[in-house]
Amino acid sequence: MKKDLISIKDLTIKEIEELFDLAVKLKRNKSKFNKALAGKSLALIFQKPSNRTRVSFEVGMYQLGGNSIYLSPSEINLGVRETIKDAAKTISRYVDGIVLRTFQHKNCLDMALAAGVPVINGLSDFSHPCQALADLFTIGEKFSRLGQASQKVGSRLKGLTLAYVGDGNNVCNSLLFAAAKTGMNIAVATPAGYAPDAQVVKESKEIAKETLSQIRITEDPLSAVNGAQVVYTDVWASMGQEEEISKRKIIFKDFQINARLLTNAATGVLVMHCLPAHRGEEITDEVMDSNNSVVFDQAENRMHVQKAILIKLLKG
Ligand code: CP
Ligand code: NVA
Repeated sequence: MKKDLISIKDLTIKEIEELFDLAVKLKRNKSKFNKALAGKSLALIFQKPSNRTRVSFEVGMYQLGGNSIYLSPSEINLGVRETIKDAAKTISRYVDGIVLRTFQHKNCLDMALAAGVPVINGLSDFSHPCQALADLFTIGEKFSRLGQASQKVGSRLKGLTLAYVGDGNNVCNSLLFAAAKTGMNIAVATPAGYAPDAQVVKESKEIAKETLSQIRITEDPLSAVNGAQVVYTDVWASMGQEEEISKRKIIFKDFQINARLLTNAATGVLVMHCLPAHRGEEITDEVMDSNNSVVFDQAENRMHVQKAILIKLLKG
């Protein structure tokens, strides 16, 4: 049966470990896998702009010996030119996998239901699973220096604390699931009214009972960051919320990742951002360009982790 990647919630810890193990190999030895997806094609259906997601999937597919086809918002015009169901059924006759970047998360679910091939969520208003997986992989990589190099990437995350400061958005939702699944602690600080999805918080806390991940939601950035080994932020207004930018700049002004805030974090704290960043808003230049910042490693790891996802889902 075909398998999709719509939410991290649907992955077992074993599947996450397997993805990370494969991503390590893919990162170490690019040429070994250069025929892994020979003859396979991937459709990228994007209703929003992208740098990282589009380029990392396209180049990743190329490096695996496959082919990708980018379909811009105006080409497929999902739900307008034809229904999602009809578009999914048609494209499934040509390609071996679909990456969908869309607004309503339901579009991902509808596409996965109708498509005969695996569907990967390349960002919806609700979640961004490929991002969060690459983020966890990056954290695991960085913490290998703590004498844990022999451990699997995923198991290095247990007991670490990630503080997410900013908007409780799609990236935050996926990080909550990702932390809960891997036993990493997560403290989320948002202004009142901008907390992550209540159902995601509830479900993450359920999952966390088994993995012993501690999940905390607060409106106090200082308390979230206190002692954290990783501090993460994202834009204050996501794609589709552009008309709220000026309002949000006022509401979020105390939720900036800056040098002062980071003095409360653990020594050597990793600073993360999914990018694109709005420098001077959610993160200062000083922090983004500091040695603590791993934002471009995150961006690079999108490709390695997604290559692992593509092999797992499309190779069968
Ligand atoms: N982080 C991320 O998904 O970047 P893009 O929007 O550029 O794809
Ligand atoms: N929260 C952001 C993430 C971009 C990668 C957005 O949805 O625009």
